[in-house]
Amino acid sequence: MPRFDNQTVLVTGGTGGQGASHVRALHAEGANVVIGDIDAERGAALADELGPRARFTHLDVTDEGSWAGAVLAAQNAFGALDVLVNNAGVQNPPAPIEHTDHATWSRILDVNLTGTFLGIKTAAPALRRTAGRANGGAIVNIASTMGLGGTAHYAPYVASKWAVRGLTRTAALELGRDRIRVNTIHPGVIATPFIHEPAAGATAAIADFYSPEPFAIPRLGEPTDVTRLLLFLASSEASFITGSEYVIDGGLLLGPALQAESA
Ligand SMILES: NC(=O)c1ccc[n+]([C@@H]2O[C@H](COP(=O)([O-])OP(=O)(O)OC[C@H]3O[C@@H](n4cnc5c(N)ncnc54)[C@H](O)[C@@H]3O)[C@@H](O)[C@H]2O)c1
Repeated sequence: MPRFDNQTVLVTGGTGGQGASHVRALHAEGANVVIGDIDAERGAALADELGPRARFTHLDVTDEGSWAGAVLAAQNAFGALDVLVNNAGVQNPPAPIEHTDHATWSRILDVNLTGTFLGIKTAAPALRRTAGRANGGAIVNIASTMGLGGTAHYAPYVASKWAVRGLTRTAALELGRDRIRVNTIHPGVIATPFIHEPAAGATAAIADFYSPEPFAIPRLGEPTDVTRLLLFLASSEASFITGSEYVIDGGLLLGPALQAESA
């Protein structure tokens, strides 16, 4: 039986490189999918492509009212909400801290951190209502390997993703007795518009700084790599896992895989 039969999943940033991959795979595994994003054109197209078990809802994750509307849209369309994927995220244009303006700092923290906080806050009552069913409820927060160390010129992004880790652990403690699991995924460098298009106000894209050649697995990640991990964490296969963090980076964090010259 598909892993998400009779379940409803809301994916934020659900039209983006990774989000759309998650949406398609969850749908293929039987889920009703609610695509939450600020990009209405892409959202409507994806929902049309997937058919009656898919809906697009305009969701700006920084706005509490918008969140209430998205959770209601899920409940109205499909009667319940079982899984929330906090995937929407933005990066800052690269700059040292002393040249990072307050507005940029606030914008990145608003989307990546406050958006995740508002999602947990708004979805928790709906998830609690369905958590009595066999699988319980699940929240998966998408952070980043940048949330595990420092990265020069990306202070707002790095700080936001570090903070998502603390939020995940706290939510896991608060919601565990309600049978709602909360986990974090830390993707490395994944081939999506996120790394190929410069952030607003930037001239260079992240991909210009990261070559996958030194990675233990010397390629960029694909959205489907992350999707497979997400499907596991959101499903009942992970029923004893909460407050945990999963790195999926092809070995990026291990350091460079230097090859000795063969004698
Ligand atoms: N691509 C990578 O290398 C990489 C690495 C680590 C972590 N991540 C994280 O993965 C997640 C998905 O990124 P992606 O690679 O798919 O990027 P992407 O740019 O392709 O997608 C991001 C999506 O978020 C949406 N979005 C932006 N602001 C929003 C808002 N206020 N409300 C709702 N939606 C909003 C965008 O419209 C877009 O659909 C992000 O949280 C990102 O930080 C990406």
